[in-house]
Amino acid sequence: MTFLDDSKTLQRVRADETSRLRMQDSLRNAAEVMETPNDTMLRLFNGALEVPMIKAGTDIGLFKMLVQSPTPLTLEAIAGATKTEPAFLGRILRYLAATRFITETGKDQFGANLNTQSLADPAIEGSLNYIFSIAIPAYQALPEFLKQTNWSTPPGTKCAWQQSVKTEMDWFPYYQQRPEQLSYFQSLMSVPRDGDWLDVVPFAEEAANVSPDRALFVDVGGNIGHQSKRLRAKYPTLPGRVIVQDLPESVNVAPPAPGVEFMAYDFFTPQPIQGARFYYMRTVLHDWDEENSIKILKNTAAAMGPDSQLLIDEMALPNKGVHWWSACLDLHMYIMLNALERTVDQWHDLLGKAGLKLVEIRTYASVMKNSIIVVERM
Ligand SMILES: C[S@@+](CC[C@H](N)C(=O)[O-])C[C@H]1O[C@@H](n2cnc3c(N)ncnc32)[C@H](O)[C@@H]1O
Repeated sequence: MTFLDDSKTLQRVRADETSRLRMQDSLRNAAEVMETPNDTMLRLFNGALEVPMIKAGTDIGLFKMLVQSPTPLTLEAIAGATKTEPAFLGRILRYLAATRFITETGKDQFGANLNTQSLADPAIEGSLNYIFSIAIPAYQALPEFLKQTNWSTPPGTKCAWQQSVKTEMDWFPYYQQRPEQLSYFQSLMSVPRDGDWLDVVPFAEEAANVSPDRALFVDVGGNIGHQSKRLRAKYPTLPGRVIVQDLPESVNVAPPAPGVEFMAYDFFTPQPIQGARFYYMRTVLHDWDEENSIKILKNTAAAMGPDSQLLIDEMALPNKGVHWWSACLDLHMYIMLNALERTVDQWHDLLGKAGLKLVEIRTYASVMKNSIIVVERM
């Protein structure tokens, strides 16, 4: 059994997305209204240190060790197991306990808590490596980038990330050549988000008549196939082919999955699978500006048959009152790729320019606005 210090109250609060996120926001707001200007500055100061310190803890296997231990561990034991110098390690542990990432159970004694459990999760660990080594350096480059571009980014403008790594290359080709960092990105993609898109597409009804040799589901830019595997797991007997398409560097490392085919395909070239019942793009178009998104969409549109639908799985943002995470992700896309999260109006506009029409938006995460945007040919 894992030792978890605050085990009496350790149950994660289970609440639906709306209640959970509203409660978090109001509690954060309550804490912030008590801040003096100095408190605000200190909160931001500390915010700059948190990810690097978590990275340091991850590098020595600290969080996994605490989670796996049935009892709290002494500083001496942790230092011995991690081959670190106790006096300095003690300062790091004290910091991580003060910021609630681990728990201090006694003098020089530490255990896991809910945050520690999250940090020990390989998908979260990989995501934090992404934040540390890829996102933060690009964020740092943003103010200078904005000065240089005079805050304007016409099509073809490079992005702040390119300045941070000093490259002229685009994001995906650059990381395809760097497998370790690409694996951090793949971890990030594997973290479950709120809501489930599979709840809003009635495959059993809509795909029952697909013939076995027809493509049922083409997962364009599907990475290593997380969503296609989930589809097959939920509907193991659905007829038709399920095909994951991505660049060779991604599909070639995808673990095989029953009922799922992998195909190397560049979505800037004509779509080779004609007339599929569903084409699916999950968080693909938010990586691209308008010009490139239209190219990708036109390649799909040209392959669509009379009953084909394109399911775009992305945020469809309201024009007002966006959640901070959606706004954060929008700017993240700008910094990394000169791209964006789109509002409902922007989706209509983009799809129209690619000869497609937006038929329906089925939102499955009501705060983040993660949605299936159902699209057909004009
Ligand atoms: C943000 S990820 C989304 C992955 C997946 N759909 C998901 O939601 O987990 C974007 C994907 O687009 C792929 N990609 C980028 N450029 C591509 C291209 N030219 N052709 C095909 N796939 C590409 C990347 O390799 C990556 O897997």
